[in-house]
Order: sequence, then structure tokens, then C-alpha cells
Amino acid sequence: MDKRKVYIETYGCQMNEYDTELLYSILHKDGFDKTDSPENADVILINSCSVREGADNRAISRASQLIYLKNRRKGLRIGIVGCVAQRDKGNLLNKYKGIDIIVGPDSYRNLGKLLKNINGEPVIKTSLSKEETYDDILPFRQTAVSAYVSIMRGCDKFCSFCIVPFVRGRERSRNPENIINEIKKSVESGYREVILLGQNVNSYSYDRIRFPELLDMISDIAGVERIRFTSPHPRDVDDELLEVMRIKKNICKHIHLPIQSGSTRILKLMNRDYSKEEFLDLVDKVKSYIPEIAITTDIIVGFPTETEEDFLDTIDVMERVRFDSAFMFKYSPRPGTKASKMADDVPDSIKSRRLNEIIELQKEHTLLRNKEYIGKIETVLIESTGKKGKGELRGRTDSNKIVVIKDAYDCKIGDFIKVKIFDTAGVSLFGSAL
Ligand code: SAH
Ligand code: SF4
Ligand code: F3S
Repeated sequence: MDKRKVYIETYGCQMNEYDTELLYSILHKDGFDKTDSPENADVILINSCSVREGADNRAISRASQLIYLKNRRKGLRIGIVGCVAQRDKGNLLNKYKGIDIIVGPDSYRNLGKLLKNINGEPVIKTSLSKEETYDDILPFRQTAVSAYVSIMRGCDKFCSFCIVPFVRGRERSRNPENIINEIKKSVESGYREVILLGQNVNSYSYDRIRFPELLDMISDIAGVERIRFTSPHPRDVDDELLEVMRIKKNICKHIHLPIQSGSTRILKLMNRDYSKEEFLDLVDKVKSYIPEIAITTDIIVGFPTETEEDFLDTIDVMERVRFDSAFMFKYSPRPGTKASKMADDVPDSIKSRRLNEIIELQKEHTLLRNKEYIGKIETVLIESTGKKGKGELRGRTDSNKIVVIKDAYDCKIGDFIKVKIFDTAGVSLFGSAL
């Protein structure tokens, strides 16, 4: 008999991409093979994100859209997994007949058995765990050149706008030995870059090992040529972390420092636990350790009660720091969060105007930062072929800048090559292979 086939569509952050790799691995053991087409699948899973209302809606509408395939393929099962599943806890089933299974991020271990045992009644599994880290499960990797490795799960920070602590549960870290073994295996199978993942990656703590020590241990693994990590919380960036980043050649010189807002008043309401000045001091400290470092951020506009003056503080921080790039969002109230109990009182038209303003400003800053690379020689890890076909390749610098290489005839995906940068546009650098 043919093996049953599973198709997973992934939304949201890199943690979800990693979880999809875990899901393929878990389901493989239970006799399901991966397929890239929903039409050929016996099981379709939407690995969903709930961080903003838009993302949440997208996942649900995609799942409901795929229900029609049940008419074509007998026995097809459709499920929602991930953060929307955890938020919703099964209420969706009243609205969408045809969804068979709703499973939250801590309940993946038995998914294969659950799928096999469905007998017409929908299945809901959304209990959160204080321990589950899937520590013993080797992911079925989907990425080409960089291996994702989850080092911790959950978040205890409870920023007032954020649903993550509610859908991902309490913070818990993986055993460092298993992390290191997983990385060694990924190196053996050809990966030369690892991306360490966690909702709050620098809160990592297992016995007496904290994040800087873990990074140090990972950087000593033979064959690991680049290490990235995401997302750190500015509050937990300490001297030890900056020191290990400075000393170790294979830890990339890039740090994502989500500021969220430049207004101390708003930061307090967001429960971010730092002020505008403390954030600026942190940026200075980061640059004093590693002058060439790239700093990126996340910014939210239109948090409840945000005035023009608060917004100007955000602009002010952007102008002082000149982030290399930024993810920018309009505030979106999320059920259960503290902020959702405040009136969402900034009109959408003002949120849009503020968002457009910071997007334009960020474009200028990205250009300014990227222009500093013109004339420099960078080591680039090739990730894919370029859009223009033959001879064009795309990769990333140590500082995480995308580089389009025009004349890279002798190299292939996964190679490190020296590239001379000659131009920049949008978010990309342009260079020629040396
Ligand atoms: N753990 C990460 C963030 C995960 S969510 C961190 O602390 O950096 C990614 C980003 O989504 C956040 O940094 C924030 O900018 C944005 N975000 C989260 N909740 C949001 C909400 N309710 N509305 C708008 N943006 C939000
Ligand atoms: Fe959300 Fe804050 Fe935790 Fe990041 S640190 S996941 S923004 S609660
Ligand atoms: Fe979204 Fe869940 Fe990640 S809410 S951002 S997929 S942790």
C-alpha cells in the first residue's frame, strides 16, 4: 500500500518553520510522507500564526478554502496546528465544517496517532506544557543552506500587546547536549550556517548554562561557519553576550533588537521593561563592542493612547540609531492580552499614516547603511539562484544583507565566496564575485 501523504503550509515566524520540520519528522515515523501539493495529500495541515489579526484570519481562510478538496480525495483530513489552533481551542469547528483536527504547538508528539484514529468526530488538543521541547526529535529539514535549531520554547515576558505567551506557553530551554548533537548532525549533512531560534532566545537557561555560554559552546563545533540567532529581547542583552559575539569569528555580526516604540511612556504600557534612553544606551554599548555590527528592529505604531509626541519619539530613535532594516506593524489587538483591554483608540487612518512615515524613513536608513558597503569585499553565503537566471546568485553577508551577485558562474548554493560590492538598491546589495 502507498504511504499516506501529508502537506503542511506554514505561516508566521521561523519557530513555526522549525515546527513544520518537526511535524514532518514526527509524522514520518507514523507512516506519512511529505508532499508539496495539497491535491495529492491525505492530510493537509495549516501551521498557523496568530500574532496579528491579519495573520490569524489568513490561516483560517486558507484552511477553509482547502475544504473543497475533500470532494475530490476520499478520506482527506484537514487540520489547523500552531498558534491559531492554540488561541482558538476548537471554537472554529462550529463555523467551518470539514476541519478535522485542531492541535496546539505543545501537542505534536502524538499527531500521527490522532490522525489515524479520527472517526468522524473532530479532534482538539490544545493543552500547553511546561516541559515539552521536542528535545529528542530530529527535524526533517526543509531549508537549503541554513539549519534552524530551536533552543528554547515559549515566552514569559508578557509584553502587553503580544499573544505569544498565551499560544506558546511558558519559557523552557532545551538540554545543551542535545542542541549540540543536533547541530553536529546538521553539519554532517552539509549545513554550514545554524540559526538558533526561540521566542526569547537570549533568555536561554539550562542548569548553569546561559545563552552566552551556549553560543560559545556552539561556536566551537567543527564545521559551523556561521551562527545566527533570533529573536533576542533588548532587556536580556548583557556584556557576556556581546563579548562572545565580539570574540568568536563564526557568530554573525548582526543583532535584532526589537524596540517596538521609542516613547518611554508607551514602552511602559507595553511592559517592555526599558526606556528610550536605556535602549539608546544599549545600542551604543553594542556598537562599542562590535563597531561594524548590523542592528535591525521591530516597530509597532498606533499602540493604545499613542500620541503624535510618542510617535515622534519613535522617529527620533530611528534617526539616532539608523537601523539596518526593520519590520514595522500597525498595532493589532489580540484576545486575552493586557493591551486588548485598553481602547484601540488610534484611528486606522492615523496608524496607516504613521506606518507609511516610518517605512519611508527606514528605506532612507537602509540605503544609507547599505551604501557604506560599496567598494568593500564581503564573504557571502550563496542561498539561491537570482531572479535573472544564468550567472546570477543571491546570498547573505555576515551582517545578514542580501547580495545579488551578477557573475557567479563557478559557484553553487551553499558556497562561501568573496564578493566586491558595487551598488545597492532597495534592501539588496549588488556585487561581483572575486
Ligand atoms: N519574541 C519576539 C517577537 C515575536 S512577534 C520579540 O520579542 O522580539 C514579532 C513582532 O510582531 C514583535 O516584535 C512585534 O513588533 C510584532 N507584534 C507582536 N504583537 C503584535 C500586535 N498585537 N500588533 C502588532 N504587532 C505585533
Ligand atoms: Fe511577545 Fe514580548 Fe515575548 Fe516577544 S518578548 S514574544 S513581543 S511577549
Ligand atoms: Fe506567529 Fe506563533 Fe510565531 S503567533 S509569530 S507563529 S510564535
